[in-house]
Amino acid sequence: MSRTVVVSGGGTGIGRAVAAAFVERGDRVVLVGRREPKLRAVAETLGPEATWVAADLSTADGAALVARAVDRVHVIVAGAGGTSAAVPSELDAIAREWRADFDQNVLTAVLLVAALRPKLAEQGRVIGVGSIGAQLGSGYSGSYGAAKAALHAWIFWLAAELGPTGATANLVLPGYVPDTEFFGERMNPQFHQARVDRTLVGRAGTPADVASTVCFLASPEAAFITGQLVGVNGGTVLGR
Ligand SMILES: NC(=O)c1ccc[n+]([C@@H]2O[C@H](COP(=O)([O-])OP(=O)(O)OC[C@H]3O[C@@H](n4cnc5c(N)ncnc54)[C@H](OP(=O)(O)O)[C@@H]3O)[C@@H](O)[C@H]2O)c1
Repeated sequence: MSRTVVVSGGGTGIGRAVAAAFVERGDRVVLVGRREPKLRAVAETLGPEATWVAADLSTADGAALVARAVDRVHVIVAGAGGTSAAVPSELDAIAREWRADFDQNVLTAVLLVAALRPKLAEQGRVIGVGSIGAQLGSGYSGSYGAAKAALHAWIFWLAAELGPTGATANLVLPGYVPDTEFFGERMNPQFHQARVDRTLVGRAGTPADVASTVCFLASPEAAFITGQLVGVNGGTVLGR
């Protein structure tokens, strides 16, 4: 059966790989992000099974726009997120940074799922994208890891809410995945090597590593897995 899969952050990085993996498995994908040209380019590459909606998911209007574009959804992948490298010291700037990270990483997931929930099929799947930053404590101003940690409690609550319908909710926690827009100008050879050195397998993660885990969690074989935090980090963090 071909399923409808909504992928936020589908225009770049991990989300793009997730969308490609679902299309490869015969599903239809709806890509969501703010930048229309990025979404259009990925949809053109993926072919007729891919459509897109340009929307800011940190807003109620943006999430409602996505819901209007979809009749029924089988899998929601809430992958939108990110952070700046700012380390503000002024109180106003600290407040802005923390609010921005909460908006970008928490509200984008919460509002997307709330908007689509009435259209979620029985046995549906919700997969959020957290971060190793919530386990290690992220650098910069601390707000990114804290925002991602908020997703843990949200996914536990959601799994309990959805359980009676047979639907599941899980969070994947990627480790270091450089082939994305995530790091921007922070990236340099030393930055890269330090993160590779923290893995047990001696390499960086790829968007495809995360995509294959997301696809497994969305599969019928994963029907008994819910309310879990699933690390995809090459062994950088062990067993939690
Ligand atoms: N790369 C890593 O090492 C790593 C590690 C741990 C966790 N993660 C998480 O993995 C997820 C995917 O990130 P990535 O690594 O693939 O980086 P990325 O290439 O920067 O992707 C982030 C995506 O989120 C979208 N997005 C951000 N804010 C949005 C908003 N308000 N509304 C709609 N879409 C929004 C962006 O699209 P627009 O800018 O066009 O809106 C972009 O496509 C993120 O949640 C990130 O926090 C990444």
